Amino acid sequence: TKVLGIEGTAWNLSAAIFGDELVSLHSNPYQPRSGGIHPREAAQHHASVMKEVIAAVLTDPGEIAAVAFSQGPGLGPCLRTVATAARTLALALDVPLVGVNHCVAHIEIGRFATGCDDPITLYVSGANTQVLGYLNGRYRIFGETLDIGLGNGLDKFARSKDFPHPGGPRIEELSRGGGYIDLPYTVKGMDLAFSGLISAAQESRAPIEDVCHSLQETAFAMCVEVTERALAQAGKDEVLLVGGVAANARLREMLQVMCEERGARLFVPERQFCGDNGAMIAYTGKIMLEHGATLQIEDSRANSHYRADEVAVVWRTEPQK
Ligand code: ATP
Ligand code: FE2
Repeated sequence: TKVLGIEGTAWNLSAAIFGDELVSLHSNPYQPRSGGIHPREAAQHHASVMKEVIAAVLTDPGEIAAVAFSQGPGLGPCLRTVATAARTLALALDVPLVGVNHCVAHIEIGRFATGCDDPITLYVSGANTQVLGYLNGRYRIFGETLDIGLGNGLDKFARSKDFPHPGGPRIEELSRGGGYIDLPYTVKGMDLAFSGLISAAQESRAPIEDVCHSLQETAFAMCVEVTERALAQAGKDEVLLVGGVAANARLREMLQVMCEERGARLFVPERQFCGDNGAMIAYTGKIMLEHGATLQIEDSRANSHYRADEVAVVWRTEPQK
């Protein structure tokens, strides 16, 4: 069985075909002219490159068993553009449509790519920061950001210092030469908040290396704390790190130390599967199709607030520990 998947929740329009493994993957990212992502401009970008991106992966339309698409969460205009394309293709090819939750897809491609089985997932991207784990047929959200995603926070700080977008890599580079200064650390229960930390970092007069270093140390320590507590609560022994911020070596190192102390194992997918990509939608769409989780056209509306725990994870039937 081969499934076509289309991802386009935010900046990256990406399509892939998944069979027993990844068959093809092609992306065309939207590059904002200035500042952050403008949702309408991103959607126009997706529409204008949709045909090219799909054509690049869809060499043999006759072999496609279903069309999967990122149904949410994400930017409304982008999601609607992708949903329209997916519906049209499914109708034209006369195959089922599969609506995939973007966060669930990050977890599933991560499990596939790393071979981990039942992890606590730390998902840190631009718009999202969540700690998730499988419990009784759902991916439960153990903790999440109460304001902005960590990646967007880093990008906002970077913009205020005139670093190029996205800001994460430049902050990481500068942080290596920095020392530690005190910045606000905010974990409330199992949830996180970053905007106070980002403002304090922007306003700090300390050397830029120290600010970058401390911004990373503080934000990552918050993420590691919540991940560790979720591990303990759920009684699991694997951690999966996904999302664009997973590229950061210091975040991986801090998670690795925590995992070693707890006798847990850390898994990080190769880079092409960490950020937003069509492969994760095609793969998750395929396992959903195999378990009958297809959509009627009338139920295929985009859902910009689609939460991971709304999805019935019918493809996982492991007994609970
Ligand atoms: P989503 O739609 O899931 O929120 P996204 O559109 O933000 O995802 P991703 O590719 O998952 O896309 O993440 C992009 C983010 O990753 C940016 O905010 C960027 O600054 C951050 N990032 C990239 N490299 C690094 C790095 N080395 N260190 C820290 N952050 C990084
Ligand atoms: Fe994502």
